[in-house]
Amino acid sequence: MAVQKILITPILIFLITHFAKSSSFENQYLNRGVRSAYWPSGDDLSPSSINTSYFTHILYAFIQPEPISYNLKITKSDKKYVSQFIKGLRYRNPRVKTLLSIGGGGSNSTLFSEIASQKQNREIFINSTIHVARKYRFDGVDLDWEFPKDEKDMFNLGLLYEEWYNALVAEAKVRRKSRLLLTSAVYYNSTIRLIGNGPRSYPAQEIKKYLDWASPMCFDYHGAWANNTGFNAALYDPQSEINTHFGIGSWIKWGVPPEKLVMGLALYGRTWELKDPNVNGVGAEAVGPATDTDGSMNYDEILKFNKENGANVVYDEVAVSFYSYAGITWIGYDDGPSITTKVGFAKSLGLQGYFFWALGKDKDWSVTSQASNAWGQ
Ligand SMILES: *[C@@H]1O[C@H](CO)[C@@H](O)[C@H](O)[C@H]1NC(C)=O
Ligand SMILES: *[C@@H]1O[C@H](CO)[C@@H](O)[C@H](O)[C@H]1NC(C)=O
Ligand SMILES: *[C@@H]1O[C@H](CO)[C@@H](O)[C@H](O)[C@H]1NC(C)=O
Ligand SMILES: *[C@@H]1O[C@H](CO)[C@@H](O)[C@H](O)[C@H]1NC(C)=O
Ligand SMILES: *[C@@H]1O[C@H](CO)[C@@H](O)[C@H](O)[C@H]1NC(C)=O
Repeated sequence: MAVQKILITPILIFLITHFAKSSSFENQYLNRGVRSAYWPSGDDLSPSSINTSYFTHILYAFIQPEPISYNLKITKSDKKYVSQFIKGLRYRNPRVKTLLSIGGGGSNSTLFSEIASQKQNREIFINSTIHVARKYRFDGVDLDWEFPKDEKDMFNLGLLYEEWYNALVAEAKVRRKSRLLLTSAVYYNSTIRLIGNGPRSYPAQEIKKYLDWASPMCFDYHGAWANNTGFNAALYDPQSEINTHFGIGSWIKWGVPPEKLVMGLALYGRTWELKDPNVNGVGAEAVGPATDTDGSMNYDEILKFNKENGANVVYDEVAVSFYSYAGITWIGYDDGPSITTKVGFAKSLGLQGYFFWALGKDKDWSVTSQASNAWGQ
């Protein structure tokens, strides 16, 4: 009995302290990884209807800087959407972290180049991001500059990350608040070679030192800008380096540790109009997009299209992607099983997590919930 007592006591103490630790927020957050998504402002998904149990971080997309002044511009509609966003999320789950994302696909890349090029411009811009983030009670800021055009832009981007981080640390100290997070959406590959003029590589050391994480956009690999069908976001492609496995690998080789990477996942696919409905495999000839926009189609719309048109649905196990076709329409996209495999890939490499572009494209949370389950406890 006496011996048992002695044995039990340390175990109990261990259990109690362990339990107390793992129920604290910090610990849970570490275990849970980063499960995030962008919320495109102005879309019809209300922030208060986001099921935040699937996410640790949600990003407001997007705010733009102003030419000449380099301050962030908060338009009248931004004002409305930002408060809707912050209030809606706080109400649902005060633990979910919010980030203010700056830039985006349609933003002015020359302007970012100009901001990053001079110390004074960077300082004005950085101060403005802190001011806006604190004013609206965000937990962090995110930069989505698509894309730095040359080596010089990449060098300046490194300076921007460094000075931004230092300003966030200083500000947190002065205000006795926790530091704002600093993250950045980046090209799927550590070197940008296929767009713009000439290869240029991201500043790996500055990303490693100054960002909470970088978010490679592992999608937009194939689209109607070329007249052959293909996958928007193949995990593997034996014929080309345009795939997530290669891209994430390039980041790690370039010196960004896996735990500083949050991998992009697409809740949309890309469509084509086939040249010949009977030639409908991957790489089949097409004559343009199947929609009147750029050919992208939201996940929900794809499922609806497949159902209404009795489309053939094929899972490509090599690419870890789906495609469907009906008549002359061809769609490459992701669904639960491919997303689950990709999340497993991210986790097995020790990445910090994943993000979705974007909320509102998976209205019943079927894919987002599978991703969250795949990441696990
Ligand atoms: C959100 O998702 C969780 C986990 O699936 C579920 O238990 C909960 O009921 C959902 N909440 C709402 C409001 O739909
Ligand atoms: C983009 O930024 C550049 C540099 O500040 C500016 O000259 C240009 O007018 C901007 N373009 C638009 C469309 O705002
Ligand atoms: C930016 O903010 C810092 C800290 O508050 C301040 O010292 C500095 O003067 C500001 N710079 C500009 C250009 O506003
Ligand atoms: C990806 O990065 C590697 C360097 O790690 C480079 O050799 C390759 O050309 C890049 N690919 C693309 C498509 O930019
Ligand atoms: C795709 O094919 C159509 C029809 O032949 C043609 O008009 C269009 O220019 C092609 N697009 C590209 C990107 O090659």
